[in-house]
Amino acid sequence: MTQLLWPVPLEVRQFADAGSVNPVLARAFAAIRAALDDAPGSAFFASPDDLLDRVELPEFRQLLQFIAGSAQDLAKQANAQAWPEGRLSLDLRFAGCWFQVQNGHAFHDIHTHGNCSWSGVYYVQVDPAVERHAHPSLGELNGATRFYGPYSGLQGGAYMDMGNAYLQRNSLDIQPEEGRLVLFPSWLPHKAMAYEGSRDRIIISFNLQIHSRSGNQLFSYTAT
Ligand SMILES: [Fe+2]
Repeated sequence: MTQLLWPVPLEVRQFADAGSVNPVLARAFAAIRAALDDAPGSAFFASPDDLLDRVELPEFRQLLQFIAGSAQDLAKQANAQAWPEGRLSLDLRFAGCWFQVQNGHAFHDIHTHGNCSWSGVYYVQVDPAVERHAHPSLGELNGATRFYGPYSGLQGGAYMDMGNAYLQRNSLDIQPEEGRLVLFPSWLPHKAMAYEGSRDRIIISFNLQIHSRSGNQLFSYTAT
């Protein structure tokens, strides 16, 4: 029997209330940046990762609920074969939540997130696709988020033919659209590509942990 081992679950969803919520968040983030930024007007800014304590707005809570619900769905699907049968009492926790502002060709180089099982990005503000893609040098990658497949680090000089064609597409570019949520495993390398636009690219990033009240370890290995 063919086994497809170690999949990469990734989910893209649209937040239905983005039209009313995002402008409120953008204003709140501008106020936080104004208070904290040592270099106002620079091409890149990242807030501290304690937004859950800093932002009291109901619109923010609404978005967090959407994120948490989406992450619960994805984790349940991804762990369908791994979680034990029967009732499971789980706690989903945000292990960090922050916003980033980019413009003027700023980018965030390839990285992973630690101390969590799931991570995500939510696009608060960005130029529409038709404007982004018209950029003379950045084109369709203007402001995209690139994810690198788990084999990427092993493919330097690797053999390639039609037999392993399924490995050839080893990265995925997701377009930033206002209200779009992308959830991914925290170990998955990714990069915020360079962005330039008439409006700043504003995103929320976050890390999530999901704990079982009866403990998190399911498997133990013993030598045979
Ligand atoms: Fe990231």
